[in-house]
Amino acid sequence: MDLGIRGRKALLCGASRGLGKAAAMAVAKEGVDITIVARTRDILERTAAEIRDTTGVRVTTTAADITTEAGRTAALAACPEPDILLNNDDPLDRRRHDGARLRTHREYFIAQREDPSA
Ligand SMILES: NC(=O)c1ccc[n+]([C@@H]2O[C@H](COP(=O)([O-])OP(=O)(O)OC[C@H]3O[C@@H](n4cnc5c(N)ncnc54)[C@H](OP(=O)(O)O)[C@@H]3O)[C@@H](O)[C@H]2O)c1
Repeated sequence: MDLGIRGRKALLCGASRGLGKAAAMAVAKEGVDITIVARTRDILERTAAEIRDTTGVRVTTTAADITTEAGRTAALAACPEPDILLNNDDPLDRRRHDGARLRTHREYFIAQREDPSA
């Protein structure tokens, strides 16, 4: 399939296994350079190697917890201007998210893109 996204950049959070990994592999097969994020570094690196070997695209990794501001900042630092963003942790488990000023990940990433000081 050619989705016409070759050469784009994707930031995929929660992508070392499961649905996120499948999404990462799918966009990589379309020729998209990807940054994948998850907390467990060894699984993340294994997945990155597998996607790299299968597709030949550029795969970078960030071991981070995206329910934290520090984790989201690290993810965005690794892929500052993503064309494609996948948020894939459990959005229903709000108890794990830090801070009273919770913004959705999407709002956070858009705000950071428009004004990095936000
Ligand atoms: N599978 C289904 O049938 C299904 C159906 C409906 C909805 N969903 C939803 O779809 C999402 C993915 O499901 P899945 O079955 O693919 O899950 P999964 O196999 O458990 O994979 C979750 C991925 O997200 C990463 N992750 C989890 N919490 C994270 C965090 N705080 N920060 C960064 N990375 C994190 C995990 O790696 P680490 O643990 O190493 O961080 C892993 O790479 C979930 O939100 C789930 O509720 C799934």
